[in-house]
Amino acid sequence: KTPVWEARADLVVVGSGVAGLTAALRAHELGLHVLVVTKAAVSDGNTRWAQGGVAVVLAGDHDRDDTVAQHAEDTVTAGAGLCEEDAVRSIVAGGPAAVTELFANGAVFDRGAGGLSRTREGGHSAFRIIHAGGDATGAEVERALVGQVTDRRVPVLEHHIAVDALRTPAGEVAGVTVLDRRGVPGVVRASAVVLASGGFGQLYQATSNPEPATGDGLALALRAGATVADLEFVQFHPTVLYTPGARGRCPLVSEAVRGEGATLVDGAGAPVMAGVHPLGDLAPRDVVAAAITRRMSQAPGGIDDHVLLDATGISAFAARFPTVHAACAKVGIDPAVDPIPVTPAAHFACGGVVTTVDGRSTVTGLYAAGEVARTGLHGANRLASNSLLEGLVVGQRAAEAVAADLAAGMLPDPGRGRMPERTSAPIAERDALQRVMSRYAAIGRDADGLAAAGSVLDLSTELGPLWTHAAVEDAALTVVAQALLVAAACRTESRASHVRTDFPDRDERRWRRSQLLRLSPSGQ
Ligand code: SIN
Repeated sequence: KTPVWEARADLVVVGSGVAGLTAALRAHELGLHVLVVTKAAVSDGNTRWAQGGVAVVLAGDHDRDDTVAQHAEDTVTAGAGLCEEDAVRSIVAGGPAAVTELFANGAVFDRGAGGLSRTREGGHSAFRIIHAGGDATGAEVERALVGQVTDRRVPVLEHHIAVDALRTPAGEVAGVTVLDRRGVPGVVRASAVVLASGGFGQLYQATSNPEPATGDGLALALRAGATVADLEFVQFHPTVLYTPGARGRCPLVSEAVRGEGATLVDGAGAPVMAGVHPLGDLAPRDVVAAAITRRMSQAPGGIDDHVLLDATGISAFAARFPTVHAACAKVGIDPAVDPIPVTPAAHFACGGVVTTVDGRSTVTGLYAAGEVARTGLHGANRLASNSLLEGLVVGQRAAEAVAADLAAGMLPDPGRGRMPERTSAPIAERDALQRVMSRYAAIGRDADGLAAAGSVLDLSTELGPLWTHAAVEDAALTVVAQALLVAAACRTESRASHVRTDFPDRDERRWRRSQLLRLSPSGQ
């Protein structure tokens, strides 16, 4: 369809979670004309569902036995050999300044007698996770950032979905094509695009992610020729609230609940994590999720789709974890007296668009920050509560990188961006896609299953035009699923969140490396 409306900006930010709004605010401060495009309401993304908090070691706070170097080391350990250590050090070291900026933007975090309250989650060797509203950290971060965007009148196009990059004849990105809230096509011409569109939890039937998490930004980057990596590393959160036959977004039961003493037990009351890892219930989350999955599959005639989280020893549970408490109450569970039924669910994409720690992708004019990006911070398994941190740090830096690149004359003239010649894309039927990904490409994969998933996906896929929001989302899920299946099939080892039952061991000699992927110009 021919675009019927046009907008111009120096920078278009796609997405309005922590990374996108942080980038937009910084760009605005730097005097750039920035426009935010977001496909739902401004605060509807994944950020507002984040519970645990922000992992950060702040200087000058009350005396604690913790260091930035220790935080970096825990991140690298959780990442199972695939973190880029320079990126880890850089982003973790950027945390204190980014959090100070967040506080300046009005976010209010929980405090106790000794200053900021801190909790612990899987894989952390210290209590270093600051939080807000008990377990409503993401909601507070989003509230503060949306407030600033509104106060400073940063323009936001809500319910507009970015479809494809506009590209110059030299292949640079110079804006995006967009469908407005009624599906009317338009273009936003800009010297730079920051993708901050989040992850793709909706690839799976059960996920902690809300409906908008369909991988659109990743798909846009793939179609624009950007390099992506580590797509096979999908982190499953060990504990979402289990309800029979649950589909779509399942309420998270924060790891901080275990951080404050809750333990996982099976249907017979036996501890799930005993003898599995020295950190027990606070092992890195890939270890806990895999242990739960194993225990469920071994249940002889017992429960096989959930385990139990015993949080009855946590005093004042409702005050400390109001979000979890409310979700439990909705299904008739009182965590003060009842063990909480929990199960793993898709939670976070460790891989994504390959970028530097300043958000620069491999394509001029295209930047990425937050879950859509792969900076090297997470490796094969993200350390809990490092994602809000990454969004804050890299979101801000991406805006600074755009300003610097623009000032250096390195970015394209927005007038030269052209629409893609392609008029359609492969679109799979969403139910079939979610079913095969959940069955064959979740925790526990093998060559036969991955091949079967690929065949079913092919059979349920047809070429279709990207003329509606749903078609754009389904096309994104399709290309991300295809790329993930290829990456998972090629990686013939088990490492952190990528578990192959036919290759159960880690293969350091062949596989201590990331797989880089790029679509050929024909889209294969
Ligand atoms: C949680 O609270 O368990 C989630 C935190 C995270 O995913 O980083």
